[in-house]
Amino acid sequence: MTTTAPGLSYEELVAARRASGVAMFNDNKMKLGVFGSNCSHGLMATHAESTYELSWQHTQKIAQIADRLGFEAMLPVARYRGMGGETNFNGSNFETHTWAAGLAQATENIMVFSTTHVPTKNPIVAAKESVTVDHISNGRFGLNMTMGWYKAEMEMFGGTQREHDARYRYGSEWITIAKRMWTEGEGVDFQGEFFDIKDAFSDPKPIQQPYPVLVNAGNSPQGLEFCARECDFNFIAFADPEEARDTAARVRSIAHSHKRDLGILGYGNIICRDTEKETKALLDHILEKGDWEVAKMVSSGLGSESGSFDKIKALQERFILGYGGYPLIGTPEQIVEQMAGLSEAGIDGMMIGFLDYVEELQYFGERVLPLMKEAGLRS
Ligand SMILES: Cc1cc2nc3c(=O)[nH]c(=O)nc-3n(C[C@H](O)[C@H](O)[C@H](O)COP(=O)(O)O)c2cc1C
Repeated sequence: MTTTAPGLSYEELVAARRASGVAMFNDNKMKLGVFGSNCSHGLMATHAESTYELSWQHTQKIAQIADRLGFEAMLPVARYRGMGGETNFNGSNFETHTWAAGLAQATENIMVFSTTHVPTKNPIVAAKESVTVDHISNGRFGLNMTMGWYKAEMEMFGGTQREHDARYRYGSEWITIAKRMWTEGEGVDFQGEFFDIKDAFSDPKPIQQPYPVLVNAGNSPQGLEFCARECDFNFIAFADPEEARDTAARVRSIAHSHKRDLGILGYGNIICRDTEKETKALLDHILEKGDWEVAKMVSSGLGSESGSFDKIKALQERFILGYGGYPLIGTPEQIVEQMAGLSEAGIDGMMIGFLDYVEELQYFGERVLPLMKEAGLRS
């Protein structure tokens, strides 16, 4: 099965990415992305007050601020169905390839990602859509692949959800076909367990070489193996920097066994104010107004069979504070200390959210980014 691009070593892949000027391969030690701004309530399951809304105008504004601040990525959550609770968390949401296409037109430098449930989309169609957004953005498109873990969501598409390991076998065939569509000029034939493709063509090819940056959030052994073999970044869930260090080392060593490497991304919301007192007051308020109903439902499984969500089962608070991610809470100085700790643990980028994306991104730009630069985390 394909690992990197046909005929390219990992070093050549990275060289091609850097020559394409891909932001996720720039020299910043801690890359930054805005995560979840395509879904109602973003990454925070709470009724706490915010100006955040799911309108196109607001969506563009968030992306334009992040672009101006030099963030590397806009990364959406793939969601077709709300998760219930009082907020019906994420129940209103924008489809992610078309979201990325719109943002590609509205921004200049930031990468625009789609997050795609691979079982919902034919790989030839997904490869073609991805190339189209790559051209609209002049080589700034990235693809985050998810295998689908939310049973009721996957069942919307007919049939039953595949058992866990089969999801990754399916994903491996899917991405092999997509990579061949992006890189091969001749008709592509492929026979596998799930696909029977005959004489398939896709033109034009991506602007970004050799194909769009690939991300996956596999956290189970099968997920880590898939990601280490096929992707540029593993997007991991972790409870603390020590766990981040272990997971990062594990997935990197799997990648090394395939004669390649990859970067590690984490995620979490930023809860930051000038003083510890103000930060604590905001944190308490978010939790007090939290949607505990959905947090309980998610932590009790939702039929997910998902390694990483089991890991965070007891952590309903973490769900409210940011989808089970690692929340960064504190003053600007404390946030930067925490970022430095994560960088030291092997995290190459944080995909972040806020209670109020527009207001707090601006604050982050004014108060946190300069300190990240001083700390050598960004230039
Ligand atoms: C950082 C992160 C982001 C994720 N984003 C999505 C998403 O947008 N949509 C989705 O259905 N699943 C998402 N997932 C779930 C993963 O795709 C995956 O199912 C989960 O991490 C379980 O890993 P496993 O399948 O290897 O057990 C995300 C998981 C993590 C850790």
